[in-house]
Amino acid sequence: MRSGGFAMSKYRIAWLPGDGIGNDVMEAARVVLDAVELDAEYVHGDIGWEFWCREGDALPVRTVHLLKTVDAALFGAVTSKPVKAAEAELAPELKRRGFTYRSPIVRMRQLFDLFVCLRPTKAYPGNPLNHKEGIDLVVFRENTEDLYAGVEFGPVPHELATTLKRLAPPFAPFADLPADEYAVSCKINTKRGSERIVRAAFEFAKLHGRRKVTVVHKANVVRATDGLFLEEARKVAKDFAQIQMDDANVDAVCMWLVKNPLAYDVLVAPNLYGDIISDLCAQMVGGLGFGCSGNIGQKLAVFEPTHGSAPKYAGQHKVNPIATILAAKMMLDWLGEREKAQRIELAVSEVIKDGWVRTYDMGGTGSTREMGKAIAAAVGETKPVGVGRR
Ligand code: IPM
Ligand code: MG
Repeated sequence: MRSGGFAMSKYRIAWLPGDGIGNDVMEAARVVLDAVELDAEYVHGDIGWEFWCREGDALPVRTVHLLKTVDAALFGAVTSKPVKAAEAELAPELKRRGFTYRSPIVRMRQLFDLFVCLRPTKAYPGNPLNHKEGIDLVVFRENTEDLYAGVEFGPVPHELATTLKRLAPPFAPFADLPADEYAVSCKINTKRGSERIVRAAFEFAKLHGRRKVTVVHKANVVRATDGLFLEEARKVAKDFAQIQMDDANVDAVCMWLVKNPLAYDVLVAPNLYGDIISDLCAQMVGGLGFGCSGNIGQKLAVFEPTHGSAPKYAGQHKVNPIATILAAKMMLDWLGEREKAQRIELAVSEVIKDGWVRTYDMGGTGSTREMGKAIAAAVGETKPVGVGRR
């Protein structure tokens, strides 16, 4: 494990601000972590757009090594651009050498088998952005399979087209298309992958006294993969007699969630539907500034705000850091630091309710730093000095 120093910290945390507003929000989160006096060593890791441009890799190998030595990681945000735009920004000596941009967060999820994407969405009382008061949903998103498996073809190799023609009658209308006239992305779902995410959702429900788990799918159309997911879910549900299970198509869930969010509790979904419904849920409790996630595996967990890098606001200390502060809170829960986690959540909720500081998304003029400081001050149960109301 860790060695060398005599004043060893209890935790070693990879600190991955990334780029864009990643730096702004992580700075604010750090002020809050320091306020709860987490006994941690924070080790900076290189990740993000500048490493893609300079090295052809947004997640350099040294950062992957770092992640093997830490208890957890906090990640800000990174910019990503479409393949051609990304290639255009590569250092001249790296161009045309076969580098392709891949999202570092998707890679971390796969490399470290961070199979649970946990996305709590709670309407903190008094948040002017709440769609409804009282929303308290938790999304469990499968995080390594499905349409994120990365098995994609465009143009489509002849060999694949021939095989699909032979095996799948519905492929007939596509069979004679020129290779570069279409593309194929494979949705791959395994029994093991489906079972373990659904089990994680039910275990969570049991542990936290939640009454219901809703399985989200589209098994009426996407029969093979979503059918398998639903079937595994039904098997798992049998082990949790005290928790209700229901299931619904993803399109219907999107309508019902907006209409009647209080009727839901824990939601579990394959990767892409989970991605989509978790944004929908986040918007109901304040949007980008409030959506936080944990990417959780057996050995490592990476916590992050769900929002992107918003390059146009980078360095302006304007955006809302609450999502990142709540991600840090989730990290503390995962480390077993429940009391510190609770203090952070209480502080967030107090600052939201009280409205001492509101960032622009909440209709205020407070800065990222002011929000961080206000929450840090609330952790210490003293009102921030010198921070004006809105
Ligand atoms: C998320 C994001 C990512 C995803 C992107 C940045 C690749 O939308 O974490 O939800 O699609 O998983
Ligand atoms: Mg997303």
